[in-house]
Amino acid sequence: MAHVRSLFFKGPLADVEDKAVKSFKLGRPSDVIWNITNRCNLLCDHCYMAADAHCLPDELSDEETIALVEQMGERGLPALFLSGGEPMMRKNFWEILELARSYDIRVTVSTNCTLINREAAKRLKANGIDWIATSLYGPAEFHDKMVGVPGTHDRVIEAIKILREEGVNVAIKTAISQATWPFVYDLIHEAKDLDCGLIYFCDLITSGRSEGEDDGRITPEQWRELGDFIVDDILSEDSKLEWDIGAMPSFIPFVAEKFVERGIDVSNGLERLKVISACPVGKGHMNINSAGGIMPCQFAQDWTVGNIREMSLQDAVSELYKLDVQESKGVCAPDACEYSRICRGCRAKAWQRTGDPMAEDLTCLLHAEFDRSGLVGQIEATPDFDRAAPCSVPGVC
Ligand SMILES: C[S@@+](CC[C@H](N)C(=O)[O-])C[C@H]1O[C@@H](n2cnc3c(N)ncnc32)[C@H](O)[C@@H]1O
Ligand code: SF4
Ligand code: SF4
Repeated sequence: MAHVRSLFFKGPLADVEDKAVKSFKLGRPSDVIWNITNRCNLLCDHCYMAADAHCLPDELSDEETIALVEQMGERGLPALFLSGGEPMMRKNFWEILELARSYDIRVTVSTNCTLINREAAKRLKANGIDWIATSLYGPAEFHDKMVGVPGTHDRVIEAIKILREEGVNVAIKTAISQATWPFVYDLIHEAKDLDCGLIYFCDLITSGRSEGEDDGRITPEQWRELGDFIVDDILSEDSKLEWDIGAMPSFIPFVAEKFVERGIDVSNGLERLKVISACPVGKGHMNINSAGGIMPCQFAQDWTVGNIREMSLQDAVSELYKLDVQESKGVCAPDACEYSRICRGCRAKAWQRTGDPMAEDLTCLLHAEFDRSGLVGQIEATPDFDRAAPCSVPGVC
């Protein structure tokens, strides 16, 4: 994940980015994506979680979920993403949300939006939810085919309108693939028409029900075309839209070069990226599944480093630091790629392809001829972050 506008400029998530950097510098968790249940009321044909009507057999009990939120609060977690499956299907969803908010953790709910009515929207607003991030894949017929349940598209649009009427921030999320590509630009316009403040595009993750679908990814040329559009949008006077890009860390050096080409100062972004690179694996970021499994990245569900039943949240952060001190290999190695320190390549894709999380990321957008001249000197001039020993003081700094 990388909030492009907020990373380089004063976008709507700049303060969350700052807090994540500060937390990581203190040796604490920077953000947690927590799949609170694997149950789902949809059956998306691309779902990397392979979510369906069933919970994982060893799902965390309500008591265990509360104890985990308490740890998050005590460690001063800045940002929590409640995901799934469909997180609103978990019976103590509201209890988890309300407790997290009582610790002032910024909460985003990643939902298919089918369970949001006026009452839920008011309750989300009353809890000071940060964002509702909802999936939308294209026009009605296509969306409904993709999620496997007729009528879903219209329910999502209705929920978005209700949420905006109640003053809740809405983000649109879409998996970027050859299937969704024909609808991408229309989706962007629709998000703007619906007054959504953030668009999240995630490269197709080829696991779960998308296993083996590598040909379903869009090409680097298509990603670069989208990148040029996003750069123009960020620099236009009349857009405030935030852009978040998943599973494509090389997108960040790509847009940074484009900003430099236009004479824009990217030093703020580079400073942050030297602390938390575009791939945040090992940088205080983690994913916890509904059975307590701790993963370095939500996009590699079979890559676990422990379980929250046996390991504290703080110990999990420390365990994940072991990945931070390792260098990426192949085309992503520091001596092969000038952007290695700020990008690192997608470690989840490396794991999935080879079983070695430090292997090269073959989905890089930046071919050999890509002009790297704008950023290289600036990256070198930006000081490297030297991480202090993890802080053991409880509470928020
Ligand atoms: C796993 S879902 C869980 C939250 C909720 N049920 C939803 O669909 O929004 C989280 C996000 O992952 C995205 N997603 C699912 N499978 C994907 C895949 N194979 N590649 C990329 N994104 C995917 C969905 O589009 C959704 O936005
Ligand atoms: S992508 Fe979300 S809504 Fe679709 S099946 Fe997976 S968890 Fe459910
Ligand atoms: S080669 Fe690897 S580290 Fe370099 S920009 Fe591409 S993905 Fe990032």
